[in-house]
Amino acid sequence: MGHRIVLPNKGSYEVFKTQEFQCPDPRPKEVKIEVYYSGVNFADCLMRQGLYQDAPAFPFTPGYEISGIITAVGKDSKYNVGEKVIGGTLFNGYCSEITLPEEQVIPLPNHFSLAEGASILVSYLTSYMVFIEQARAREGDEILIDCATGALGFLSYEILKKKNVDVIGLTSSPNKKEYFKQKGKTILLPTELGNRKFDIILNSRGGGTLKQDFKRLKPNGRLISIGISNALNASFFNKWKTLLTMPWFWVVRLINQNKGVFGLNVLNLFSTPEIIQQALSKLTTFDIKAPEVIIFKASEIGKAQRYIEQKKSTGKVLISWRD
Ligand SMILES: NC(=O)c1ccc[n+]([C@@H]2O[C@H](COP(=O)([O-])OP(=O)(O)OC[C@H]3O[C@@H](n4cnc5c(N)ncnc54)[C@H](OP(=O)(O)O)[C@@H]3O)[C@@H](O)[C@H]2O)c1
Repeated sequence: MGHRIVLPNKGSYEVFKTQEFQCPDPRPKEVKIEVYYSGVNFADCLMRQGLYQDAPAFPFTPGYEISGIITAVGKDSKYNVGEKVIGGTLFNGYCSEITLPEEQVIPLPNHFSLAEGASILVSYLTSYMVFIEQARAREGDEILIDCATGALGFLSYEILKKKNVDVIGLTSSPNKKEYFKQKGKTILLPTELGNRKFDIILNSRGGGTLKQDFKRLKPNGRLISIGISNALNASFFNKWKTLLTMPWFWVVRLINQNKGVFGLNVLNLFSTPEIIQQALSKLTTFDIKAPEVIIFKASEIGKAQRYIEQKKSTGKVLISWRD
C-alpha cells in the first residue's frame, strides 16, 4: 500500500492527514514510481489557506513534482523498471507511490541526485515559460525578479546565465541580501530601486505592485504576472487589498505605451503535454544547477510549509518518503 497526504479542508499547519491508498498499476504508456521526494511549492501554501482558485474541491492531495524510481511499466513503455525519473503531476504529488503517463516523466539527468531532481521541475518550467517563451530575454536586457531568493529565482538566474543580461533581484528580507551578495547576485529591497527601469519584470507579489512595475518598464518592456504572494499570511484587510488592487490593463494603454503584459500559471500547462515536453527537451541545453534543497520528513509537511511561509527558504523545500 502507498501513503498520501490529504488536505481535508483549509486550515493551519496541523490540518494535513496521512492515508493509505492503493496506487493503480500502470496502463499502456504509463509508469509506476516509488517516490523518494515530493516538491513543496508556494502554491501549496496558498491552497492550504484557501487562496488558490484552481485547487480541486476538498479533500485532495496537493503536490506537483516528484522524483523516484520506476517499479512497474505499462505496455509499450519506453522506460524500464529501476530507472530514476522526475515526474510532474497536476496535484497528487504528496504521495509515496504514483502512476503517471510517461509523457509527464523525464529521466533524472545524470548529474542530479534524486533530491535535486525533485527540486527543479516546476521552477524550471516556470522560468523557461517566462523568460524564453513569453518575455524572450535577449542580450543586454535589464531584468527585475521580485522573488529572487527562492527556488524560482534560482532557476531564473540559471536559465539567464548565458544570455548576457543584467538581473536585479528583490527580497522582502533585509537579512538575505548579504548571503546572496556572496553568491554574486544583486538583491535589493523594493525601496532601493529608485527610478530604475527594466526591459522585463517578473512579478509574483501581485496587487498594487503590478501597477508600479508596469510604470518601471522601458518602451517595449514586458511585465509577467505569476502570483499573489502579498496575500499569503496577510491580515484580512491586506489579503483583500492585494486581491482588489490587481490592476486591469487597458489594451489602448498598452498600444500607446509600447508595453506588454503576460500572465502565467505553469500548472495549467500540464494539460498541454506537448508544450511541457518541448520545454523539457531544452533542459540540458541550459546546463542548469539545482537549488539547495531543504528536506523534511513526509510526516512533517506542516513544518515544511511553515518554513516556506516564514520566508526561511533560500532554495527548494522537499518532503522525503524514505525515512
Ligand atoms: N504562476 C506560476 O506558474 C508560478 C510557478 C511557480 C512559482 N510561482 C510564484 O513565484 C513565487 C516564488 O516561487 P518559489 O517557488 O521560488 O517560492 P519559494 O522558493 O517558496 O520562495 C518563497 C520566497 O518568496 C518570498 N515571499 C514573498 N512574499 C512572501 C510571503 N507572503 N510568504 C512567504 N514568502 C514570501 C520570500 O523571499 P524574500 O524573503 O526574499 O522576500 C520567500 O523566501 C511564489 O509567489 C510562487 O507562488 C508562480
